[in-house]
Amino acid sequence: MESVLHEDRVFNPPESFRKTAHINSMEAYREMHRKSIEDPESFWGEAAGSLHWYRKWDRVLDDSEAPFFKWFVGGRTNICHNAVDRWAEGDKAGKKAIVWEGEPGDQRVLTYADLKREVSRFANVLKSLGIRKGDTIAIYLPMIPELAVAVLACARIGAVHSVIFAGFSAESIKDRVLDASSKMVITGDGGWRRGSVLPLKSVVDQGVRECDCVEHVLVVPRNPGGERMECEMQDDRDVWYDEAAATVSDDCPCEEMDAEDLLFLLYTSGSTGKPKGIMHTVGGYGVYTYLTSKYIFDLQEDDVYWCTADIGWITGHSYIVYGPMQNGSTVLMYEGAPNHPDPGRFWDLVDKHQATIFYTAPTAIRAFMKWGDEWVDKYKLDSLRLLGTVGEPINPEAWMWYHRKVGKERCPIVDTWWQTETGGVLLSPLPGVTPTKPGSATLPFFGVDPAVLNPAGEEVSTGLLAIRQPWPGILRGIWGDAERFKQTYWCNWDGKYYFPGDGARRDDDGYFWVVGRVDDVVNVSGHRIGTAELESVFVEHSNVAECAVIGVPHEIKGQGLVAFVLLRGTDADGSDELRKELNNLVAEKIGKFARPEKIIFSADLPKTRSGKIMRRLLRDIATGNALGNVTTLADPGVVESLKKKYSS
Ligand code: WT7
Repeated sequence: MESVLHEDRVFNPPESFRKTAHINSMEAYREMHRKSIEDPESFWGEAAGSLHWYRKWDRVLDDSEAPFFKWFVGGRTNICHNAVDRWAEGDKAGKKAIVWEGEPGDQRVLTYADLKREVSRFANVLKSLGIRKGDTIAIYLPMIPELAVAVLACARIGAVHSVIFAGFSAESIKDRVLDASSKMVITGDGGWRRGSVLPLKSVVDQGVRECDCVEHVLVVPRNPGGERMECEMQDDRDVWYDEAAATVSDDCPCEEMDAEDLLFLLYTSGSTGKPKGIMHTVGGYGVYTYLTSKYIFDLQEDDVYWCTADIGWITGHSYIVYGPMQNGSTVLMYEGAPNHPDPGRFWDLVDKHQATIFYTAPTAIRAFMKWGDEWVDKYKLDSLRLLGTVGEPINPEAWMWYHRKVGKERCPIVDTWWQTETGGVLLSPLPGVTPTKPGSATLPFFGVDPAVLNPAGEEVSTGLLAIRQPWPGILRGIWGDAERFKQTYWCNWDGKYYFPGDGARRDDDGYFWVVGRVDDVVNVSGHRIGTAELESVFVEHSNVAECAVIGVPHEIKGQGLVAFVLLRGTDADGSDELRKELNNLVAEKIGKFARPEKIIFSADLPKTRSGKIMRRLLRDIATGNALGNVTTLADPGVVESLKKKYSS
């Protein structure tokens, strides 16, 4: 692996930002970090003390069964109480919790007192439909306030939520519902995206057809009190949320949860065909998202915080719902596309709602660059004080554009590196402290002890990213597959380090530069897609004999997918018709967002003499690199013909 990036620009936190920040000197950061590593139990015990516990923990960390770590052992708490009730009952009752804007421009505001009532009512509806502590519920909703409300309602009564991003297909819903034995699916009558309505309910109907575990489908109307969008209801199974809500009270006590009770499952792709249900528990995840939000976004009382992610991904779980709300912040939430009705929409939202913190993905930033400066130049953006990025490495050019055009050279940028599995951010600048370098996620958060290692476990400047000790937000396992959990994350270096699957470089200042995945996972627009998952979809088509999918650099998406497809019989050329069928198959089995950029049909694929497809060569072909060693190929001629096809 080689890191070609050399970036020597450095940006110090603006003095005005530094002055009011929670942490505002490098010495303070270093000292706190040192303590957090030397004595994690004191550090995290103190952090947890800022939250509410029904019963204090007996032990902060139990690592006796590593890598199955337990945090705040014996402690009892409820993350919904910490995120909602604490504010709804005090002087923040009238503070805005959620400021929401729909794609068509409709708006809703929920104060913390409103949020408590709505969440309690939702929780009572769940109970009235037979949901109890420990039951799993799938949630397939658009970005409307009820998505946050549903998630918090589950947490309130101890039901385990499994949110499925609303871009996933019926087939993906089915896989996830069955894997988790979900008793209920919560969906909606529709949501707006790029000017049209997503027909969520009919996708769910298709998805749960063979799921005997599902007792109810709860349907939330997109327009409360207004017109419903049309959808078919099944008598004995489907329930309109508003009708059920009218019959229950808006008072519902929080369930006292054990710190290690399961809070949620979130499915993500790995290097094999089957998505894995990542497990996060109540206590550790709660403390970790609380503290990372506070310090990395430097949350202050009057901030209006906007994270543009969908709650269907981990970013939305941790940094729309649980993190900011456990800090009592005002969260801006937007339903639709960034370029609807025009590419100025995000900036219009910033100005209109006076957002102070803006957190988005590099792929969005690159799209805005491409749409043209005039869209961002039209707006003031003077409410902003902090910017963030997440999801993939950011190229320095995009970083500089973000810094100049959006941040007006006034806002620090926090480049946050983390994963579904880590629960919260592990590498990031602290905005009032850390000098930033475009493209680097800089330094570790408290309690995080990272290293760059070679496979033998020696520290190197470019190699594999590794995390030496556990932090409270670390995943507790893969649902139903303890073996895969150990194999995936703990197989290297005698199980002494967590292995995230990323490659990284460390520079002379000790800064980390995460360069991307080193496994068969491709990061398309910040969405993780396993190449094996896609390959298994393609070979389901009767014309396909074999297939290899690779990731290639993509101007906007960061990475794009290219599929090399070997057809059955002698027809190597394929047709546009077949190409369409294969794309439809991907949309049907996974979701539209997983469709490849390019499908290349071929009569042969480059293989070693033992029959292994040489993906490295396919990557060289796709990126136009000089071809690596071809002498081990069974048939070196294949490469030349593929090269021609690729460029035609
Ligand atoms: C993978 C995790 C974390 C929420 C969104 C994605 C890549 C994430 C960065 C960053 C470089 C990054 C990594 C990681 N990644 N953030 N700031 N710089 N790479 O969550 O779907 O679990 O994907 O995204 O490759 O392993 P995810």
